[in-house]
Amino acid sequence: MSKVYAVNTASAQKANINREEYAALYEFSIRDPETFWSEQAKKYVDWFTPWQNVMDGDLQEGNIRWFHDATLNVCYNCLDRHLPEHKDNTAILWEGDEPHENEKITFQTLHEKVCQLANGLKSLGVKKGHRVCIYLPMIPQAAIAMLACARIGAVHSVVFAGFSAHALRERLIDADCSVLITAKEGRRGGKTIPLKDNVEHALQKCPCIQQVIMVDSPDKTYLDCKTLMDSMPKDCPAEPMQAEDPLFILYTSGSTGKPKGVLHTTAGYLLYTTMTFKQVFDYQPSDVYWCTADVGWVTGHSYLIYGPLSNAATTLMFASTPNYPDASRIWQVVDKHQVTILYTAPTAIRALMRDGDDYVKKTSRKTLRLLGTVGEPINPEVWEWYYHMVGEGRCPVVDTWWQTETGGIMISPLPGATELKPGSATLPMLGIEPALLDEQDKEIQGPGTGKLVIKKPWPSIMRTVYGDHKRFLETYLKPAAGYYFTGDKANRDEDGFYWLAGRLDDVINVSGHRLGTAEIESAIVSHKAVAEAAVVSFPHDIKGEAIYAFVTPITGITVDDNLMGEIKARVKHVIGSIAVPDIIQFTSDLPKTRSGKIMRRILRNIAHGELQDFGDTSTLADPTIVDALIAQKPALK
Ligand code: WTA
Repeated sequence: MSKVYAVNTASAQKANINREEYAALYEFSIRDPETFWSEQAKKYVDWFTPWQNVMDGDLQEGNIRWFHDATLNVCYNCLDRHLPEHKDNTAILWEGDEPHENEKITFQTLHEKVCQLANGLKSLGVKKGHRVCIYLPMIPQAAIAMLACARIGAVHSVVFAGFSAHALRERLIDADCSVLITAKEGRRGGKTIPLKDNVEHALQKCPCIQQVIMVDSPDKTYLDCKTLMDSMPKDCPAEPMQAEDPLFILYTSGSTGKPKGVLHTTAGYLLYTTMTFKQVFDYQPSDVYWCTADVGWVTGHSYLIYGPLSNAATTLMFASTPNYPDASRIWQVVDKHQVTILYTAPTAIRALMRDGDDYVKKTSRKTLRLLGTVGEPINPEVWEWYYHMVGEGRCPVVDTWWQTETGGIMISPLPGATELKPGSATLPMLGIEPALLDEQDKEIQGPGTGKLVIKKPWPSIMRTVYGDHKRFLETYLKPAAGYYFTGDKANRDEDGFYWLAGRLDDVINVSGHRLGTAEIESAIVSHKAVAEAAVVSFPHDIKGEAIYAFVTPITGITVDDNLMGEIKARVKHVIGSIAVPDIIQFTSDLPKTRSGKIMRRILRNIAHGELQDFGDTSTLADPTIVDALIAQKPALK
């Protein structure tokens, strides 16, 4: 039996929905989705012209459209509509890498800056539908750039500033971006991120980019962002967009080597992120909300920028790491800015927990009333620490399960409405109908474990893989016909609560970052001394999962620390530091079946240190390889 925490009465008093209302609304949202979503669309979004059709298309064909004949603008919803009542409220509360670096940007100022950059983009010839890449650290210009694109109907593609030049170029070319907005450098955890150097490398073979706008451009090679903005008028009309016009592309990893450009469109995405932000975080006008995610990931899109700003919330943007200069920083920021809602990742909580309670106890945290996590499963003991030590038993913990592809939170407790079970993402959002499928793709009824799928389209489901619709269909709609396939495994208990149980495919989750093993393997194999590589994950106390690479060098190559260093450098060069293997084991061959297929299951066992029972190994072409791998396994740090 898992532990159950009753609905927190203090949070229930404030909450925008209680248990009975959730149950009734959920039932209604599934029974009559058209009416339900229509009501939500009126409640949460301002439209320029209304819709006739709520939804068409289905999960068989994948031609999904929501409100397709309506028009609206996402930036208008995030800024303009708040000006009459909230223009002097803080929209972005920025905390820099060093604790003394702070900035408050009101809705009025943010509106002006966004208009100026939007006008700047227009002056460079950027039009509706053009793709603009944003490669920026966590500075307000990142938010300004995203909103400026949305204002004029340009499609942004944010590339995480930790990605290498090579990864940036790949994404620029795939989305055929004409403009790049970047910065000379970034600062994080006291270190400099050399963005300009990366950009220069990336642009060497990147004909699509016509203009580069650079924050703090050191010379005239690139357009200086501030100079461009200062020269522009502070007003720029918000372009009326069709509901299904693309809003952004965001690259994510899958089971093949090439990252996928997940495409989200205008109305459905805005509606869903606005609604779920309000409900999951129980947002109230006096809140100060802090999501620690980087803008380079989907959480940074949906719950750092769009969801909060659309609700007129104050969103705290943090350029540093939770433990810089020391492990107390995160809690000091909470006290300094009187944060009421904190949304972060299990990997950060695990690292802070390891550093000890004293760092937490020396801060007050009395303003906190709600805690959230996202990105990976949270271990029950870490959940308990977050709940008791950080939140002093006062703040509900919302463990939110979702994906880049889903656009917004799909399974999560609602404060005041849902009992909490440490380690469970609990129940589906309104309008979301999950199911578990068995081996034969039959729906499991009641408690059980299976493939997690979603039964009906929801407003913020991704619409396609940019430039590759076939891949969209094959990855998400074909694996379980008629369902959206999440790629995750889950367990449902006797109360109908969901417990996420990891991926079904070759995607690994390192510190909440999604990486495809095939991507890392191709980076390793691109080193000239490597013949073959296979990458698996193994459990890691802080990162959740860590990367274990089995590498076969080409014949005649001497294996030494130097080669190991070069391979790591190669991965850093091709993808970025986040993908560098924690362990590299050299081997003369990989365990393969007689038909030549790598037996990853065996490699996984070895990486996990499970060296006794390898299951059925009768198809192995050469069983001695497994013995050699075990004998030469490096010690885990
Ligand atoms: C995993 C991040 C367990 C899952 C928003 C999913 C989680 C992948 C949780 C998506 C959670 C995300 N509990 N696992 N609360 N949240 N995941 O696209 O495997 O970066 O498929 O989106 O992270 O990662 P992505």
